[in-house]
Amino acid sequence: MTNLKMALKASVAVFALTATSAVAEDVEVLHWWTSGGEAAALNVLKGDLESQGIGWQDMPVAGGGGEQAMTVLRARVTAGDAPTAVQMLGFDILDWGNQGALADLNAVAAKEGWDDVVPAALQEFAKVDGKWVSAPVNVHSTNWVWANKSVLDANGIAVPTTWDEFTAAVETLAAAGVTPIAHGGQAWQDATVFDAVAMSTGGPDFYKAAFIDLDSEALGSDTMKEAFDRMAFIRANVDDNFSGRDWNLATAMVINGEAGFQMMGDWAKGEFLNAGKVPGEDFLCFRFPGTTEQVTFNADQFAMFDQGGVVSDQQAALASSILSPSFQSAFNVVKGSVPARTDVSDADFDDCGKQGMKDLAAAASSGNLFGSMAHGHANPASVKNAMYDVITAHFNGEYDSETAVDELVTAVEIAQ
Ligand code: BGC
Repeated sequence: MTNLKMALKASVAVFALTATSAVAEDVEVLHWWTSGGEAAALNVLKGDLESQGIGWQDMPVAGGGGEQAMTVLRARVTAGDAPTAVQMLGFDILDWGNQGALADLNAVAAKEGWDDVVPAALQEFAKVDGKWVSAPVNVHSTNWVWANKSVLDANGIAVPTTWDEFTAAVETLAAAGVTPIAHGGQAWQDATVFDAVAMSTGGPDFYKAAFIDLDSEALGSDTMKEAFDRMAFIRANVDDNFSGRDWNLATAMVINGEAGFQMMGDWAKGEFLNAGKVPGEDFLCFRFPGTTEQVTFNADQFAMFDQGGVVSDQQAALASSILSPSFQSAFNVVKGSVPARTDVSDADFDDCGKQGMKDLAAAASSGNLFGSMAHGHANPASVKNAMYDVITAHFNGEYDSETAVDELVTAVEIAQ
């Protein structure tokens, strides 16, 4: 071999080594944060990691609520190519954890004292057999309403606190020719509204019995029929083009004053903020009428997939960044959610965020904190999907309320 060839070969080898080590320092993250507000929040996380020299391989899978992301995940795991970290909700984490697919984060959790600062309700979805398998990023909740303040003011509408006040406000907007409710007709969005409607109609004991305990009496009750009737009222007050619309486009209708209200989790706030809107001035946030004391929560977590027995340095660094108090504040201020730690100051949060933090703490201590049915915190995916099918079929007029109640009982029975 000539000297030149040897030198070339050596430099190629050095290049290959550098390239490999750069890749080894990346984390590949599968997530469904693809809207403007979500991407802005994700950038906080990317920036945090990049400042530690950890690169980011993005694996976005669009689709609110994460169903499509979970389908892609299953395909990746089946192909033996699990991503490093995956955005995940509630029962999905427990399912993967029980299958032994997730890495053991106990060392980093113990070093950083997660047991003492992560709310108990979240720990239930972050640990399997006493092992931490995922890092909680936030706490969202689904029983919120978002309103355009000028639209409400122009029509003399005060924030409704009861279902009757809400229906009156909706009717006022309809009479004024404004779309009362911005909605995206996708199963997970219908179910998100149903979380709040069921809680408001039947109260916390009913919500728990029906959605968490799967009690067939509660599922088949007159109260459930009334909840479906209320969904029919909502369906009658959305615009003609609601079908299939993405949730953030529905939020945009409220932002632009094309609609009065949107019932959606507090990720919607991220869209308002991303559009430069200010809570209390441009938009209002309030708990779904009749649910001021309750919180139906879902927490985004990053589950770390086992990459061969040990937690990689990158996974440990990602987990540690996610749980740091400064990141919890910076990220959740942008995302619309509230911190997944109990010891983070609310100083940097806007009024909706401050209220969210207060509501969460109060609901946790008064027994009014419940996992969201729509967002995987009440039951495993099989039951959740069975409920989605019935709720969405009813919303689209395939079932009347009585039939929906019967179908719900049967679907849940079969899914268990
Ligand atoms: C997630 C949020 C996300 C929303 C819409 C929810 O399931 O928890 O983080 O913004 O879906 O995509």
